[in-house]
Amino acid sequence: MNGLRAVGIIGTGKYVPEKILTNSDLEKMVDTNDEWIVSRTGIKERHIAAPEQATSDLAYEAAIKALESAGMTADQIDLIIVATVTPDTFFPSTACILQDKLGAKNAAAFDLSAACSGFVYSLATATNFIKTGMYNNALIIGADCLSRITDYTDRNTCVLFGDGAGAVVIGEVPEGRGFQSFDLGAEGSGGPLLNLAGGGSRLPSSPETIQDKNHFIYMNGREVFKFAVRVMGSATEAVLTKAGKTKEDIDLFVPHQANIRIIQSAMNRLDLPPEKCIINVDKYANTSAASIPLALVEAAEQNRMKEGDTILMVGFGGGLTWGACVLVW
Ligand code: UT7
Repeated sequence: MNGLRAVGIIGTGKYVPEKILTNSDLEKMVDTNDEWIVSRTGIKERHIAAPEQATSDLAYEAAIKALESAGMTADQIDLIIVATVTPDTFFPSTACILQDKLGAKNAAAFDLSAACSGFVYSLATATNFIKTGMYNNALIIGADCLSRITDYTDRNTCVLFGDGAGAVVIGEVPEGRGFQSFDLGAEGSGGPLLNLAGGGSRLPSSPETIQDKNHFIYMNGREVFKFAVRVMGSATEAVLTKAGKTKEDIDLFVPHQANIRIIQSAMNRLDLPPEKCIINVDKYANTSAASIPLALVEAAEQNRMKEGDTILMVGFGGGLTWGACVLVW
C-alpha cells in the first residue's frame, strides 16, 4: 500500500468499419501479391472506414460498447483521452468531438499524439489522474483512420495499414489488481523514419505539398523494423522489472500488431508459447493507436483473460516512441 488507489480496466469495447480490403484487392491496385504480404507481414486483410466515417465515429462505436460493458453512463466519465494520429480536425480535438457525441458533459477531453504507442501513453496518463484521486473514471480510446493518410499507389506502405478503434473504461479496482507498471519512451531523433510531413506549421498544405504527397504517411520500413525489434525487447524487460515480475509471470502478451515477424521476435525473446500471445494483425493490419486495444478487447471477448492474470501490453511507433505496461486483470 502506498496510499494511492489501484487502477485497472473496468470496461472494454471495439469497432472496425464494415468494408474489408483484402490482399487480392490490393493486387489489383499496386504491384504486389498475397504471398509477399502474408510472408513479410502476416496481414491478410484490413478494414477501411466508409467515406462518411471519421475517427470520432469509429471511436464513438467503441466507446459506447466500453461504457456498456462497464455498466456506466457517459455522465459518469471524468476524463476522455483519444490516442490518434488521424484526428477528425486539427482542432477541436477528436476527444472533444466525442465528448459531445457521447453527452459526457462532466468529462475533460483531449487527444494524445504518440502514434502506435498512443494507447499505452494514454493509459499511463489517465491512470495517474485516477491514482491520485483527481478523477474517478476515464474513457481511453485508441482510434485511427490510417486509410485517410495512406497513399494507395505506394506498395511499400498501402498494404500495411487499416482502420479501427478500441476503447476501455478505467477506474479504481481492488488492491493488488490493475496497472502495476508503465515504461514509456521516445527517440525523437528517429522522427523522420516515420512521419506525415505536410499540413502542419512546418510545411502548411499547398498545391506543392499535395503534389509531393506530403499528406501521406512516409516510412523507412527497414529502419522502423530494427527499432521495433529492439524496443519491444527492452521495454518489455524494463516494465517487468518495474512490476517486480519476470517473463515467466506473463499470462497474456498483447503486442502492437504491425508485423507478425516483429511479434514473433518478441515472443522468442520471452520464450512465450503461441497460446500466451494475442495476434490479429492478419484481420486488421496495423491500425496504429487502435492496434493494442483491438487486440486486448478481442482477448477479453474470447475469454482469454481471467481474474488475477498478468497481461503485458507493448507497442512502438512514430515519434519514434514506445510504451509498455503490466496489468493484473
Ligand atoms: O506501427 C508503425 C511501425 N511500422 C512498422 O512496424 C513497419 C516495420 N517494417 C516492416 O514491417 C517491414 O520493414 C516491411 C513490411 C515494411 C517491409 O518488409 P521488409 O522485409 O523489410 O522488406 P524490404 O523493405 O526490405 O523490401 C524488400 C523488397 C523490396 O524490393 P527490392 O528493393 O529488394 O527489389 C521492396 O521494393 O520488397 C519490395 N516490396 C514489395 N513487394 C511486393 C515492398 N513492398 C512490397 C509489396 N509487394 N507490397
